[in-house]
Amino acid sequence: MKFCLALISLLLCCAQILAIYECPSICPAVFSPVCGEANIKGRLVRCQFSNSCRLGVSACKYGINWRETSNCSGLSPYCRALAN
Ligand SMILES: *[C@@H]1O[C@H](CO)[C@@H](O)[C@H](O)[C@H]1NC(C)=O
Repeated sequence: MKFCLALISLLLCCAQILAIYECPSICPAVFSPVCGEANIKGRLVRCQFSNSCRLGVSACKYGINWRETSNCSGLSPYCRALAN
């Protein structure tokens, strides 16, 4: 049982690391802000990205299904981690 859990967490960890390497991370340094919102663990999280390319990178890296929105109010404190 313990071995199983260890194996599962190892797989999860590596899948995440691989995902980060597989995501394109180079975006043009264009400032054309877009906001995205997504449900993360049942909470609506809204973040602003400096352009839609960065939104795509975040979606790929963290597996977040961002929907573009024009409502940029109430940005989440998690954005620093998710939107850079
Ligand atoms: C934007 O979202 C906030 C809260 O998340 C909400 O109170 C507000 O009504 C929304 N504005 C629009 C234009 O939808």
